[in-house]
Parts: sequence; structure tokens; C-alpha cells
Amino acid sequence: EMKTLGGLSPEERRAAGQRLNELKNYVEAEIEKLQSGFAAKREAEQLGKERIDVTLPGRRIRPGHLHPITLLRQKIEDIFVSMGYEIEDGPEIENDFYNFDALNIPASHPARSPQDTFYISERLALRSQTSTMQIHAMQKRRPPLRVAAPGRVFRRDTPDATHNPMFYQVEGLLIDRGVTLGDLKGTVEEFVRLLFGPETRTRFRPSYFPFVEPGAEIDYTCFKCGGGGCRVCKGSGWIEMGGSGMVHPNVLRAVGIDPEEFTGFAFGLGLDRLCALMYG
Ligand code: DAH
Repeated sequence: EMKTLGGLSPEERRAAGQRLNELKNYVEAEIEKLQSGFAAKREAEQLGKERIDVTLPGRRIRPGHLHPITLLRQKIEDIFVSMGYEIEDGPEIENDFYNFDALNIPASHPARSPQDTFYISERLALRSQTSTMQIHAMQKRRPPLRVAAPGRVFRRDTPDATHNPMFYQVEGLLIDRGVTLGDLKGTVEEFVRLLFGPETRTRFRPSYFPFVEPGAEIDYTCFKCGGGGCRVCKGSGWIEMGGSGMVHPNVLRAVGIDPEEFTGFAFGLGLDRLCALMYG
């Protein structure tokens, strides 16, 4: 109609113009209607989707927790503190004196070889056991003393499910007048009872460690089955705890303590495997 508008009389043209205007208004109104219809529908859908039931219980916020090794370490520290021990922290890098000589570890010992120990220079190495803390404790405190020293130790090892080049130990040391092997056994027994429960028993197997004489490895009855045999203790009823013994006279002499006046015991236990067993 627009095209042919030119050939119309003025009256016809006005009438046509009016019709066109009406048509345009009609179409615009229809579009408007459809648009507001769509918008209302979209809003209703959105509201439906975002509806919040304020009566539902909230989503629980899950708090984090300390690493299992930290939890176990704190538990062990508490036990030793309750028995009158002081908790000591010490260096992870040590020289030959602390790592070996003062601990009565001879020059030929395999632990001194770079195959087993991380050397960072000719004379400095990452400690491979917390037993180095025995030396620091005796130098710093002088006897009588009771010290427990948790910390990281380092050994050259290929990591797998049960080996790690860095792991955790706790060292214990007690030096006093007239200390006997009976005191060591009683202390260890009390320790495992406080950690695993009053039914726990221990056994000592003779063993060799250069810094003690006599030396023993300590086992305790499985905390899972109580000694009957299960998966945790691999059927034996016993779990290995660590090493122990009466402090060697040479170790006392290395820090200027007279072994005729003072005796003592030491023990060391690993945390990682114990932690894995305890927490499954
Ligand atoms: N340091 C030893 C280890 O890593 C464990 C040990 C044995 C600690 C005998 C001691 C001890 O204090 O007396 O295998």
C-alpha cells in the first residue's frame, strides 16, 4: 500500500494513512503484549527456580582438622608431660658430633654413609633419627632430666606406601641417679597404657643400637585385637613400637656426665606407621 500511495487522491491518501497508522499501532500493541507476557513467564520461572525454603536446616560447614600426625604427636606429648617430661624441639641439620660421634656411632657404621643419610656438606647432614636430641638435652639441661623430643627425621629411601624419605619420631630420655632397666620397662608400659588403654602389654626383644647397652626393641599388644591377632597386627598380636635401652656410658662421657654417678634410659618411636594403623 505504501508503494501505491503516490497514485491516490488526497482523501484516499489520508484514509490509507490512517489505516496504516491503525495497523502499526495494532502490531506494536501486540508485540508489547507478547513481550510483557514472555517477561512475566521468564520471571515466574526464575522465581520458581530460586525459591528458598527458609525452614530447611542450613548446610553444615565442615571445619578442617589438624593432620593425624599432629594429633598423635600432641597426644604423645601430653602423656610425657603428665609423667614429668619436658618437650624439646631441636635442629634438623646436625654435624657429625650430634649425628654420630656423641651417639657412639663408629666411623664405619652404615648410617654414616651418604647412601643412607642426606649430607648437605662434608660434616653437616639432615638428622636420620631424633636420638641427636639426647645429646642436646644433656648438654643444655644437665642431669637429672626427663625430655621427650618429637620431630622430623630424614633417610635416603624410595617413597612408597610405607616408606618416606622424611618421617616423624619421638625420642625420650631420662637421666638420674640409680636408674635401672626396670624404670625403662615401667615407663614404656605406662606410656602404651595411657596411649592405647589399660589392657595393653609390652615385650622387650634384645637388640643392638650403638648408643645404648643393653638395647631392646619394644613391642606392644595390638590396640585393635588386644593380642589375639588381626589385620592391623598382621596376625601376630604384637605391634613394633621402636628402640630403647640404657644410655651407653660413652654417650654420657661425650657430654661430660660421669657414668658412675648417673645412669639413664632412652627410647625412640616412629609416628607415621603408628598413625596409619591408628587412623586406618
Ligand atoms: N634411633 C633409633 C632408630 O631410629 C631408635 C632408638 C633405638 C632410639 C634405641 C633410642 C634407643 O633412644 O635407645 O631406629
